[in-house]
Parts: sequence; structure tokens; C-alpha cells
Amino acid sequence: MKNSVLVVDGEPALRSEMVSILENAGFEALGAENGLRGLELIERENVRLVICDWHVDDASGIDLCCKLKTAGLGSYVYVILLTPKDSIDQRVQGMVAGADDIVSKPFQPSDLVARVKVGYRLLQLETRESLILSLAKLAERREPETGHHIERVQCYSRCLAEQLQGHPKYSGIVTSEYVQLIYQTSPLHDIGKIGIPESVLLKPGKLTQREFDLVKEHPLIGAETLRGAIERGPETPFLEMAHDIALSHHEKFDGSGYPQGLAGEAIPLAARIVALADVYDALTTHRVYKDAYSHEKSESIIVEDRGRHFDPDVVDAFLQVKETFQAICRHFDNDGNDLPRGGANQTTEPVLSESNDYLGPYETASLT
Ligand SMILES: [Fe+2]
Ligand SMILES: [Fe+2]
Repeated sequence: MKNSVLVVDGEPALRSEMVSILENAGFEALGAENGLRGLELIERENVRLVICDWHVDDASGIDLCCKLKTAGLGSYVYVILLTPKDSIDQRVQGMVAGADDIVSKPFQPSDLVARVKVGYRLLQLETRESLILSLAKLAERREPETGHHIERVQCYSRCLAEQLQGHPKYSGIVTSEYVQLIYQTSPLHDIGKIGIPESVLLKPGKLTQREFDLVKEHPLIGAETLRGAIERGPETPFLEMAHDIALSHHEKFDGSGYPQGLAGEAIPLAARIVALADVYDALTTHRVYKDAYSHEKSESIIVEDRGRHFDPDVVDAFLQVKETFQAICRHFDNDGNDLPRGGANQTTEPVLSESNDYLGPYETASLT
């Protein structure tokens, strides 16, 4: 049976052009002129992958995307959103609405086909992935104050990977598939926290050395859990990347991190990317041990640690996309009520709580 793709686009000429591009590439392609018809076809024909235009007749592509992600359809529907221009705000809106991929118009037919193929490869991993993502959310629920941390780290990580895709050094390494994989595996970075007592995770005061040592075990616990899944099932890039991120997201470029003290490129690239995404989020949001820092302060802390904590290439990518980072943070600030104080829009500098200060403000933030 052929893999089917639904194209939802109100413009007949573009819709039929996309349908024939996909048919020529071996897919079974269907067209719908509006969101309502699209939803009908998805349910009736059991479509797993949808390409949706930013504007359709009866709804915005964003609305349709949200509906698809919340409709309780039997299987996961992969959504590629087409945006009329490459604007940061539209990309961010698409990402937070749950679009799996975003393509700006005009697009190259070969690029669209490649992205559909990536989508189908990822759909094949759905069962294991959705199980693991549920576990990630479960781990996050133990730290309610960091609500939406997973989603923000996902968006930041994808954004950095997309930027590195254009870097000649990473050509052939950071592919479209890699970008999707990091988006889907980065939520698992702290899965090992399931093994850390809540009394330690949520402690507002200073951690004792023993408590800090306990927290430092979470990368090993997470990696061990994922290694078990890799050994039981067929090897997949998804689980391999999830394992690398869980194990190495607290390593530092200069070798002073944990748990293995890896340095430089011995640290898997995905972990070097998530390390920055994770710390940026810890810095710009309120935590039990600190208030939220402004974007400017967070940026200067990250730049200061270029080549020490962070891979210089990842810091350079961050500086290129910092406006997108701020837009992502703003989005959750506005819609997710997730930044009780400060956040990336804050201009005045918050006061760091006394707690955990023996680690230094930045080291404390990077514990998350
Ligand atoms: Fe962590
Ligand atoms: Fe984290």
C-alpha cells in the first residue's frame, strides 16, 4: 500500500501541482480545498501526513494544525505547514501549534518530497516515540514550576540545528532528518530525573553536596533507561540520539562537565545543542532557586562561556537566531503563563536567590 499525503490548499493550481509532484514521487496524494474537507479525508482515508497551507478557505493553517493535534485521531498525523514567507513569527507560531515541519513558499519540488519522506520515516517510529514522550512529560510533571520547559527546549534545539544545517562543517551531518530527530528526542534529556527524590528536585534552599551528587546522577539514569530500550528493540536513530542527549547534556566543551567529563567533539553534537537550549531556558525562566533573567543577561552569560561550557559553533548559531529564541520565549510567556517573573522580555535584572549559590548562579541554572 502506498503512503498517502493530503494537500490542504485553497488555491486549485498550487494544490494540483503539489498533488502531481507527490504522485510522481510514488505517494498517493489527495487534495482538499479547505480545512473541513481536509479533516473529513484524514479520518475517512486514514491519512498520516498532511501538507497544509498557511491560509485555507475556512480556517488558518495554524487552526487546522491545532485541531489535528488535539482531535484525538487514532494515529499521529504529521503536519508540514507552508508559510507564505520566511518570517520568524510565522515559524514560531507554526512550531508551537504543533507543526512537525515548516516550509516557506516558494519551495523546490525536490525539497518538499524530501521532507515528506522524512515525515514518513519518523511516523514509522511513532509507537515507541509516543510512549517515550509520555514518559518525558511524566518526568516533567514532578517539576510543575518548569511547565513547558520540554516544549521550549524542543523549539530552541530545532532552531539551533536548523541554523547549523547551513554550516559547511556540518553538511551531511545535520540533515533535515537530524533536525526533526533533535526536535523529537530533546524532550527526553531529563528523563533520568524520574529517579531523583522530589525533596531534592524541588528544594528551594541550598543543596548539600550529597543532594547535588544525587541530582548529578540523572544523566546516567536516563541513559541507562534508554540503553535498555535500544537493546530490547531494533536500533533506531531516534533512540540513539535520545540516549546521547540524556547522557551528555551536562557535559561541557572544556571537559569540566558531568557525568563523564567529555570534552570538545567527543560530546555528541545533539547533546552540545541541547546543552545550550536547556541552559537558555533555565536562565530565562523562574526556578525554585532563582528568578528569571532577561534575554540580554542570559545571552551574555552564554557568550562568556563560549568554548568553556558551550561549543563555539553552537554559540555562534545561537547568536544568529537569538530573535527566534526571544519569540519562542515570548510565546510561552503570553500563552503558556509560564514565566511568572521576568523572562526574555524582562529589562531589569532579577536578584539571584541565595539558594545553591555555592555553585554560582550559572552552574545552578545548568543543573536543570
Ligand atoms: Fe539535566
Ligand atoms: Fe532541562
